[in-house]
Amino acid sequence: MQYVPNHGYGLHRLIYRSRSRLPADGPSQTELDDLVAQAATDNRAMTITGALLAIDGWFVQALEGPSDMLKAAFDCIVTDPRHTAVELRAVEPIDKRLFGRWAMKQGRPDIPRGLDIGSASAEELLSVLQLATLPPLLKAG
Ligand SMILES: Cc1cc2nc3c(=O)[nH]c(=O)nc-3n(C[C@H](O)[C@H](O)[C@H](O)COP(=O)(O)O)c2cc1C
Repeated sequence: MQYVPNHGYGLHRLIYRSRSRLPADGPSQTELDDLVAQAATDNRAMTITGALLAIDGWFVQALEGPSDMLKAAFDCIVTDPRHTAVELRAVEPIDKRLFGRWAMKQGRPDIPRGLDIGSASAEELLSVLQLATLPPLLKAG
């Protein structure tokens, strides 16, 4: 799917998945922390919000914001050497944000189970991201 920027400047959401090129035994928390921190700083400046999940060697990300800002961010993301096989699953106009509280929120990879991320639809990826970013019901310990 190609990014079609010609939706004007209204609020949009994009969803993609990609193959992580961070170490095969799973990216370290430091690498993910750096990635999420950098994304959050850049996104704040662009009024973009979203969520990122690293699971089983995949990245799943949703980004919400003005169409032109999303295009600028996605142009950078696509060429980032930390991942490959970036496949855009949806770009669509939205009335309100689902991830409005976070410039970038990292999802918990223990939550999603039994979904083939590689072939999952935009709707499936979005549900996984929503589930993985819910606040924990119980405090451990
Ligand atoms: C999985 C993944 C998710 C990313 N998410 C974002 C993001 O949400 N916003 C962003 O600005 N950059 C994101 N980046 C980083 C960009 O690809 C790029 O490194 C960043 O925009 C810095 O670009 P610059 O050095 O040209 O400023 C992400 C990178 C990866 C690998």
